Amino acid sequence: PPSPAADAWPRWIAHRGAGRRAPENTLAAFRHGWQLGYRAFECDVKLSADGEPYLLHDDTLERTTSGQGPAAAADWATLSRLDAGAWCGPGWAGEPPARLAALAAFANAEGLHVNLELKPLPGQAEATGQVVAHAVRRLWHTGTPAPWLSSFQPAALAAAAVAAPELPRALLLDTLTPGWVAQAQALGCQGVVLNHRLMDADTLRSLHAHGLAGWVYTVNEADRADALWALGVDRIITDTLGP
Ligand code: G3P
Ligand code: MG
Repeated sequence: PPSPAADAWPRWIAHRGAGRRAPENTLAAFRHGWQLGYRAFECDVKLSADGEPYLLHDDTLERTTSGQGPAAAADWATLSRLDAGAWCGPGWAGEPPARLAALAAFANAEGLHVNLELKPLPGQAEATGQVVAHAVRRLWHTGTPAPWLSSFQPAALAAAAVAAPELPRALLLDTLTPGWVAQAQALGCQGVVLNHRLMDADTLRSLHAHGLAGWVYTVNEADRADALWALGVDRIITDTLGP
């Protein structure tokens, strides 16, 4: 299992591996991000049809892989043969989708800070939270920083909390629904990851007053990032800025 200690996270987090600079959610993106100097990374995790945790943003395959149709229909053997790099440019061709296990090996080797966004397929929230949490316990070594698990889906975070309560969690929000601070607290979250457009001084003050870290996504303009750092946000997820 990883180290649950509140270790010092880098301030910049590369979105989907290396933002727009490499094919999202592939190991090549993490390697590229590492070479660019990033030491913290966000990525999207879901389950294959046979229950293997792997990295993919969409519910369908065609935007970022050589596959077609719903990701839900594909087992890992099928997914592992797809090309997840060519869509991003010919130099990336042949890069396969990444299993969570492969990311864990890289994280263990380099001491990466990783934010695993639980991105369940429809109807898979609980299973995704549970399987990913168990997998992190198994795959991340003692001494490697504990990944933060985040999700827009409270049910995924709740299942992860049962499976591996020691892993830090964060609620992702695209709108501020009534009771959102209480919801994050009820899920035992250490933080909240807000769409940066929702973040302001009052919101951050409220988060910090409740003992919650305030992260924002996805900030790609330097002026906006400067303003958010000045406000006191804890982390920024970015496609293009930093590290
Ligand atoms: O985790 C923050 C951000 O990645 C959420 O949006 O659609 O890029 O996964 P999305
Ligand atoms: Mg994401």
